[in-house]
Amino acid sequence: MTRVFSGIQPSGVPTLGNYLGAIRNWVPMQDTHESIFCVVDLHAITVWQDPKELARQTREMAAALIACGLDPKRCTLFIQSHVHAHTRLAWIFNCVARLGWLNRMTQFKDKAGKDREAASSGLYVYPNLMAADILTYHATMVPVGDDQRQHLELANDIAEKFNHDYGVDFFPRIEPLIQGVAARVMSLRDGTKKMSKSDPSDQSRINLTDDHDAIALKIRRAKTDPEPLPDHVSGLEARPEARNLVGILAAITGTMPENVLREHGGKGFGAFKEVLVEALVGHLTPIQREITRLLDDPAALDAQLRLGADRAEAIAAPICARAEGIVGFLPRR
Ligand code: AMP
Ligand code: TRP
Repeated sequence: MTRVFSGIQPSGVPTLGNYLGAIRNWVPMQDTHESIFCVVDLHAITVWQDPKELARQTREMAAALIACGLDPKRCTLFIQSHVHAHTRLAWIFNCVARLGWLNRMTQFKDKAGKDREAASSGLYVYPNLMAADILTYHATMVPVGDDQRQHLELANDIAEKFNHDYGVDFFPRIEPLIQGVAARVMSLRDGTKKMSKSDPSDQSRINLTDDHDAIALKIRRAKTDPEPLPDHVSGLEARPEARNLVGILAAITGTMPENVLREHGGKGFGAFKEVLVEALVGHLTPIQREITRLLDDPAALDAQLRLGADRAEAIAAPICARAEGIVGFLPRR
């Protein structure tokens, strides 16, 4: 059976972008594939995280994933730092990946900003750890949002160079799975920027934990243009904000943008936004209730995550040990 792996950073509350671009696509995979999902706290600290906040957000992210439909009985759900194979294999990959490859990564350029000299070295080698996350399970299918495509190409380059340099056929090729009408949900303030947990403006995103009032306010204030909605998707070209809101409604109601426009084409944004608010609130309210319920019993949540880590380790540790053997590390006897 194909093994699926994906990860999400506990660097804040999950956003609608995380939900529509990634998490929601993970849920059905539990029934069709051996699925492994990971809260990547090691990746989160590549930029500064307050320790207390990080601990809280890690639990909150795990609760949110379960509330969105990941079932710890049907998938392996765990916290990255609990399974040491990730960092061990990442070190080997630090020695396989070339500086030239990392220099091309657009996410590093975005996250490091203008003062690149001040970025952490962890942020620079972030994609190597991500490759290790996937490859220490010999996972071959990776469902992610569109922004992760370049990192997965790099992971394939690393796997190929490892196999080539050591003369083995050990690491498999990874297939990115970038799905759906909302593989890229954009900021509510700027239709050319992706919606992100780390955007300084909370108005730019819908958090999965936002209540009715917060959602209504953010959607009503969302940037749009003065034209009414077009009747056809071709009319969304060069209208990034309109396209984004139409895409969100399509994704949340399980349809395609053309159907949304068939129904709402010709409407002004005032009326359209009210429809969107109701759809979002209806969809997110049950998820929010479930997050609150799960966070009320942290011991039960931690126990589920411990079981997940045990199961993950049972797969990852032997694969990592074989990679170490290939490199020539002497086993500890
Ligand atoms: P991150 O929040 O960076 O840990 O991302 C976790 C997952 O959510 C990854 O698969 C991302 O590709 C996906 N994702 C993050 N932001 C967006 C967005 N604005 N639209 C679609 N997918 C997203
Ligand atoms: N880098 C991913 C993101 O920010 C999160 C991630 C870490 C990941 N390790 C992964 C995603 C392995 C897929 C597979 O979205």
